[in-house]
Amino acid sequence: MLSAESAKQTIGSDEVLIIDVDVPDDLQMDVSRNKEREKCKRKFTAMEDDDRIISVSSEEQRYHIVRIHEWLNGDDNQILPIVDLRSYEEFDRQHIDMTSYANSGNNNTVPTIVNLPIPTLLSGERSCELPPRHVEFVILIPRQYTQQFLECSDDCEIHQLFFASVSKTTLQSRKPWLVRQILIDCNTLWKDASELGLVKSWNRECTTSFQRLPRLWKPDPITTNILPILKEWTIKEDQNRIGLVLDLGSGAGRDICYLAEELKEYQCTQQQQSFNSIHVVGIDNHKGSAKRCVPLWKNRGVDDITDSLLLDLNKLHQVRSTLIDTSMLLLSQPMQQQSEIICLYAIRFLNRKLLSYIANSTIHIETDSIESKSISKSDIHSPPQPLILPIGTIFAMSHFCKPKDGATWNFDHPKESSVLERSELKNLFESKGWQVLRDDIILDGDHGRTLIQFIAKKIA
Ligand SMILES: C[S@@+](CC[C@H](N)C(=O)[O-])C[C@H]1O[C@@H](n2cnc3c(N)ncnc32)[C@H](O)[C@@H]1O
Repeated sequence: MLSAESAKQTIGSDEVLIIDVDVPDDLQMDVSRNKEREKCKRKFTAMEDDDRIISVSSEEQRYHIVRIHEWLNGDDNQILPIVDLRSYEEFDRQHIDMTSYANSGNNNTVPTIVNLPIPTLLSGERSCELPPRHVEFVILIPRQYTQQFLECSDDCEIHQLFFASVSKTTLQSRKPWLVRQILIDCNTLWKDASELGLVKSWNRECTTSFQRLPRLWKPDPITTNILPILKEWTIKEDQNRIGLVLDLGSGAGRDICYLAEELKEYQCTQQQQSFNSIHVVGIDNHKGSAKRCVPLWKNRGVDDITDSLLLDLNKLHQVRSTLIDTSMLLLSQPMQQQSEIICLYAIRFLNRKLLSYIANSTIHIETDSIESKSISKSDIHSPPQPLILPIGTIFAMSHFCKPKDGATWNFDHPKESSVLERSELKNLFESKGWQVLRDDIILDGDHGRTLIQFIAKKIA
């Protein structure tokens, strides 16, 4: 029987301090941790099972502390993905691995498990890898945070990160994440997991072939349509070229990360010896963009085939010269490798001047246009020279778009002037010698807004 006013509970052979938990004979009651915080009543349920806490739930945050078989039984029959908050070293030593579960013919979808150490989330370095805020998931609490977490103390970083409805730094209200279950790093967890055949260790240093890491975020759907085109380009017969893929308005760099990981893994699984290689470059005018992208790409092992460029895409003169610089200088490729822009895409970034500049690009290369020149003040007032893009270049766009030409736009965000007309891209690109490969409307997952999925290929 569990009994304590301020008790050290045992989870397996680990001691976890549970403050002010009164566990009566029926093992269930509401707890008010202190009177000033009357609102923070939490309901604890404990079970008398060789002194382990089986389930603790918080009414306020609506999560349960669970054991691994409870997690496997699912929440509403769905096994939730896990964000393992322990360090890389702890994760490598032992982590939950679902390979045997997947191989044992289970009908359930195999949940994704990702390792995002808590310091990398607090620093913002990897916070863009958390699931979207409408997705329910589980967190695995590292040992050193357990006591603080169970006490729900104000300075508990995990509580602040996942459950606070007001940001401590900006003081703005925000939507907490939907953490539904909690796993605690303790001996019982690993004993249970090992009995179920779900424990694996890993030496990331010794991993030779590239394998993409699991992800809980989803790239924009347009990237999954571009990917087969890029894969095909890498195995084209005229080998040994470098293809530049440019993400216009790349933000946090997740779409680039998706493409780079998938392409790198694809090349590792092919028998082929020699490939055209691809380099994905994110362009953004926000100084913070590179700061967020680079750690993401590094952590996910694609920093060798990605780069970020700080550039204002409104300044077309600079766009042209920077792209020439990029294809000639950014890559420290051996001299015999030829690099060329093979794809440009824009995701939720609309700049009509830039679209027209891309659509009007030329294939003609004049001698002086290959050299990037510094731009003089007088140049800025004359129209920029055309952009040079080879035949076969792909342009893709995913953006808010009206379902029909002339339809009204009934959403506050983005404003109507920042929404594409239904035929706008098709008319622009077809009239300038591009072949439209895809021109579909889909709905965004959050608000039901219509998005265009547009892909065109330069044919003249
Ligand atoms: C809505 S976000 C889209 C980000 C990214 N494509 C995504 O889907 O997550 C628009 C991005 O475009 C960038 N941006 C806006 N104006 C820009 C400009 N003139 N030049 C370069 N980037 C710009 C912003 O900094 C922002 O990162």
